[in-house]
This record gives sequence, C-alpha cells and structure tokens, in this order.
Amino acid sequence: MAVEATAPGKAILFGEHSVVYRGPAVVLAIDRRARVVAEKRGDDRIFFDALDLGFSGYFEGETYVPVQGEIQQGRRLQALLVSTRCTMEHLDLKSGLNLTVRSRIPIAAGLGSSAAICVATVAAVGELLGGGLSMEEVCDLAFEGEKVVHGTPSGVDNNISTYGGILRYERGKGIDRFELDSNLPFVIGNSRRRRSTRRLVSRVRALRERTPEIVEQVIEAMVQVSKSGLAALKDVNLHRLGDLMNVNHGLLVSLGVSIAKLDLMVHASRVAGAYGAKLTGAGGGGCMIALSDISNLENVSRAIRRCRGDPYIVNISYEGVKTRRVN
Ligand code: PMV
Repeated sequence: MAVEATAPGKAILFGEHSVVYRGPAVVLAIDRRARVVAEKRGDDRIFFDALDLGFSGYFEGETYVPVQGEIQQGRRLQALLVSTRCTMEHLDLKSGLNLTVRSRIPIAAGLGSSAAICVATVAAVGELLGGGLSMEEVCDLAFEGEKVVHGTPSGVDNNISTYGGILRYERGKGIDRFELDSNLPFVIGNSRRRRSTRRLVSRVRALRERTPEIVEQVIEAMVQVSKSGLAALKDVNLHRLGDLMNVNHGLLVSLGVSIAKLDLMVHASRVAGAYGAKLTGAGGGGCMIALSDISNLENVSRAIRRCRGDPYIVNISYEGVKTRRVN
C-alpha cells in the first residue's frame, strides 16, 4: 500500500518585503502542486527519490548517501527528513520509507515549492502510518522542516500549502483565510533565475538602515497598497487590482529587489494588455505575476515567452493538501 499526497504552491500578490516590518501580505494558493508518494520499506532507511529535482538518495543516520546526483543536494532533503522524522516522533511510530517526490512548482522561484513538498510529505507519511493527522498538525509538522531551510520563516508558505485559498498574513496578527466566488486567473512569469529570500531580505534591511527616512516611507506606501489591494481583491475590481500591482512593482523596484528580466516581463505583460503586473516574492530573480482578462491570458503568456521567461497560467486553488491511497 502507498499513499499519495499533493499540496499547492503559492504566489504573493501584495506585501512582500513590507510584511517583514509591518502590515499585511496577501498570498494566493496556485494550481501547481507538489506530489509525494510514501511507501513502507522492509528496512529502516528513509529513501528519497526526487528525480524531478535531479537527485535521489537516503540518509544513514545524519549522513546523506546519494544514489543519483551530487552529495551536496542532500542539503535540500534536510527539510523533508526533518518533517518526516517529526511526523514519526509525533505519532510515536517508526518505519523505513520510500518517498517519491514530484513537483510542478519550480524551486527557489518564490512559489513555495519547499513548503508544498514538506506539507505533502507530512500528510503522506501521516496517512501511511495510520496517524489520522489533523490539518493543523500537518501544517505544524511541515513548519518544523521549513525552519531547517529558511531559518525563521513567517509560516505563510506551510499554511497556504495546507489550507489553499487566499491568505492575509500579518506578523503578530496571524493568518486569515478567505475565498472568492469568481474565477480569477493570473499569469506567472518565471525568470529562470534562482534567488535566496534571505539575501534579499537582508539587502532591503541594509538599505533601510542607510536611508531610513526614505525607505520607511516606501514601506508605508507598500503597507497601504497591500491593504487597498486586499479590498480590491475581495471586490474583484480588476482595474484597481492592476493599478495597485503596478504601483507595488514600482515600490519594489525602488527597494532594489527587481532585476532587468523581471522588469522586462512586467512591462511586456502590460503592453500585451494585462491590467497590472509586478514581481512576486523576494525578487532578485524568481517570478513576476500579471493579472489579465481570460481572453488575453495567451497574449500575456506569449509576451513573457518573448522575454525568455517561462509563463504559467494559474488559477487560485481552494484545495489544500489532499491524500489518497494508491495501489
Ligand atoms: O520566499 P519568497 O519569494 O516567497 O518571499 C518571501 C516574502 C518576503 O517578504 C520577501 C520575506 C518574508 O519572510 O516575508
């Protein structure tokens, strides 16, 4: 018997970087999912097959033994290993496992790939071992893995992957989830450049320390954009949403977190008729997001492709983590 679990990735619509200081971030679960299949093994090894990501291997104690790919790639598996071990400890059950990881969420692109994989892993292992984990437990156990990769993550990514939908997140105020009645597709453009959130956050912090009198005001404007953006999203006011995305991109550019390729894709999307476009996530590479009429999604996608980006047409996914028994 094996258990398959899938969990969605995410895109930040408003509030990246400003959320580190104050105010809300608005985050969407997207219909690109990570999939993990868990099976018991006869021995006590935890074997990972992540050939989509270019590697497979197992841990002998703390030592990673690669089967395919480089030994350094074992570091990427640390989060999964921690999530898996925490799940077994939590359930007070132990077993050797084969974990097959497949994902349609590009890695290190700001689309929540690592959280989605951790959430799916916890859910699959929990179900396989008959633990009957609640959603809250899945979310918390995945967070243990996330901490290994990100140090002090906000908790947005594991929440959105667990519950799906739209989240409003504010530090110290927690997370609210909501849904829209209407379908609201977006086009995401991947610059194909990997980036580190940690580095970009510290770059903004350094700029703020050097020029607090300016950066504070930029952050304040971003906080306002995010609040107005949330209201526009709830009203499904596309023109207003687009305007606010454009303003938000300008503010992010002023903080130095964009790159030429993201700017190109953002401008090309607007020229192709998008209501608005902005980078999404930490910047420095990764992705941008554009809002467009359904009839114009292909045009925007073509514009992104012409800038040598990878376009993905995505819908908001209201389906959080899901498990099912296979064979
Ligand atoms: O890692 P990303 O690309 O999803 O960006 C995270 C959002 C930031 O505001 C830049 C950082 C944070 O911890 O909120």
